[in-house]
Amino acid sequence: MLRTLPGFGIILAGAAFAAPNPAADASGPERLTACVACHGARTSSTEGVPSLGGQQADYVVTQLFQFREKQREAAPMNDIAAGFSDDDLRAYGEAIAALPAPGWSGPPADVALKERAQAAIAKHKCVSCHGADLAGRDAIPRIRAQREEYLAAALTAYKSNTRPGYDPAMNEVAQDLKDDEIRDLAAYIATL
Ligand code: HEC
Ligand code: HEC
Repeated sequence: MLRTLPGFGIILAGAAFAAPNPAADASGPERLTACVACHGARTSSTEGVPSLGGQQADYVVTQLFQFREKQREAAPMNDIAAGFSDDDLRAYGEAIAALPAPGWSGPPADVALKERAQAAIAKHKCVSCHGADLAGRDAIPRIRAQREEYLAAALTAYKSNTRPGYDPAMNEVAQDLKDDEIRDLAAYIATL
C-alpha cells in the first residue's frame, strides 16, 4: 500500500508525514501539487531550488532515495522524503518526468562564454554521460536549462564531496574542474 501524501503545510512540518491521508494516493500530476509550489511546474523561479520538469525518472528515484537515507543532505528534502515508500519514489519519478522540461527564455550566452564552456564540456566529456544535448538519460540527469546558481552549487558540492553521487562518476569528474570552469559551465548550460 502506498504511503500517503499530506498537504503542503504538513510537508513543511515534516514530522507529520506518516499521518494517513486517503486523498493522497494520486499517481498523476496531483501528486506534485506541494512539490511544484517550490520547484515550479516547468522552470523554478526560486534561488537554490532546481527545476524538475522533464527530469529523468530513474535519476529522480536515486535522488529521492538519497534524500530519504540522508546520503544527500539538503533541507528541506530530507524531511520531505523521510516518509516515502519505495513505491512513492517511483511514482514521483514518473510524475516529474512527465512535466514539461524547462527552457531558457533569456538572451543566448555571449560568444566568448560559449566557446569557453564548450571547450570545458569537450575536455571533461560531459556529453558522454549526459547526452549530446545534455538532456540526460536513465539515471543521468537532465542539466540543460537548469538554474545557474544550482548548477554551480552542485558542481562545487561534488568537487568537495559534500554531495556524494549515487555512484562516484560525478565526484570524479568534478575533481578536475577549476573554479572558473564551474562558473562558465553553470552560466552556459543554464542558457541551453
Ligand atoms: C520547501 C521547498 C521544497 C518543496 C516543497 C519540495 N522541494 Fe524538492 N528541493 C528543494 C530544494 C531547496 C532542493 C535542492 C536541494 C539541494 O540544494 O541539494 C530540492 C531538490 C529536489 C530534487 C533533486 C533535484 C535534482 O536535480 O537533483 C528532487 C528530485 C526533488 N527536490 C523532489 C521534490 C518532490 C518530489 C517534492 C514534493 C513531494 C519536493 N521536491 C518538494 C525544495 C523543495
Ligand atoms: C562518467 C559520467 C559523467 C560525466 C562524464 C559527467 N557526469 Fe554529471 N552526473 C553524472 C551522474 C551519474 C550524476 C548523478 C550523480 C548523483 O547521484 O548526484 C551527475 C550529476 C550531475 C549534475 C547534478 C544535476 C542535478 O540536477 O543536481 C550536474 C550539474 C552535472 N552532473 C554536470 C556535469 C558536467 C557539467 C559535466 C562535464 C564537466 C558532467 N556532469 C560530466 C555522470 C556524469
